[in-house]
Amino acid sequence: KATLTYPGGEYEMGISKATEGNDGIELGKLLATTGYTTLDGGFVNTASTKSAITYIDGDAGILRYRGYPIDQLAKESSFIEVSYLLIYGELPTSDQLEDFTDRIRRHTLLHEDLKRFFDGFPRNAHPMPVLSSAVNALSAYYQDSLDPFDPEQVELSTIRLLAKLPTIAAYAYKKSVGQPFLYPDNSKGYVENFLRMTFGLPAEPYEADPEVINALDMLLILHADHEQNCSTSTVRLVGSSDANLFTSISGGINALWGPLHGGANQAVLEMLDRIKDEGGDSADFLRRVKNKEDGVKLMGFGHRVYKNYDPRAAIVRETAHTILQKLGSNDELLEIALKLEEAALADDYFVERKLYPNVDFYTGLIYRAMGFPTRMFTVLFALGRLPGWIAHWQEMHQDPAGKIGRPRQIYTGYTEREYKGV
Ligand code: MLT
Repeated sequence: KATLTYPGGEYEMGISKATEGNDGIELGKLLATTGYTTLDGGFVNTASTKSAITYIDGDAGILRYRGYPIDQLAKESSFIEVSYLLIYGELPTSDQLEDFTDRIRRHTLLHEDLKRFFDGFPRNAHPMPVLSSAVNALSAYYQDSLDPFDPEQVELSTIRLLAKLPTIAAYAYKKSVGQPFLYPDNSKGYVENFLRMTFGLPAEPYEADPEVINALDMLLILHADHEQNCSTSTVRLVGSSDANLFTSISGGINALWGPLHGGANQAVLEMLDRIKDEGGDSADFLRRVKNKEDGVKLMGFGHRVYKNYDPRAAIVRETAHTILQKLGSNDELLEIALKLEEAALADDYFVERKLYPNVDFYTGLIYRAMGFPTRMFTVLFALGRLPGWIAHWQEMHQDPAGKIGRPRQIYTGYTEREYKGV
């Protein structure tokens, strides 16, 4: 039998010894290969997967969807085109795009009963659990599109999700601010309709600024896929049990909600606000980061995959300039962000650790300038990530070797205990 030594004691494959201090957590932190199996708590590094959707080279800072560079797609395509590309593997022809857009447009309404579902939540409900619950509830309302092995049903649930998520997201927001819901206006584009349902009021006509529409469309493209991270592998794992698409996507939304995943841009804004409140001295803040002062952390820098500049961050930085200027929003925070970035990139401490700004560094500033409260930031991320999740769920089902997901477990508890009653 292979024996593995770890901080909590010794472990033999197949027979575990419960030693003092070993509650599984110590061992869980350790990555070790015994020759039989590899211990990697929570698929941190070793679980290998394959996919033909998104290519990332973290060292070179490259990100491509289906082979096309992200910066080109962000500048020249629309979010709907990119959604088509991710899901079907090719950029649409103009006829295909028209047909796809038209099919989405026909499904934007929510069933009137589903609208009442929102009434069951408290007024101060965070929009994320409302979003994931309503998406899961689609499985109850659309029972004619739940079969993962019927291509027509998969297509219908795909279109329904793309069409209804902006409506659900806007209603989750309206619910949280106590305003009435607006029906979708299908004469408007995808993003424009979402902005109108979010910020419009029944008595006041709402016209979204075309630059804001374009910027949000582009941000959705940048967030549309990022290979098999926490939320995407959740969607695949839930789907691997042959659960329907709606419920699998709902699982992904929940995974995204965590501050280590979708909630990171909120943490950046809080950090920038704090630097501003403390006098705006970014150099002093970096000094405190390097001294590892309690509670002083550089948020929005570094990425598990990118050991170089996150290609999305460069695009977002440019957009932050344009949108904040256009909307006359709090430039002071942008100034602090730029200074912080400049100082960090000129400092060996951060350069040696390969800490470069990531996509979360500037997005919060833009969203806030557009009028979104921080509680909506992860909702916007979910809107963007939806086509990526759908593409992964479909890809997984198309793999003939596909099996239900089941991580290999190394048991670290007691082997046998004598039960003596309470
Ligand atoms: C993302 O875009 O999903 C985030 O960067 C998280 C990640 O993939 O590591």
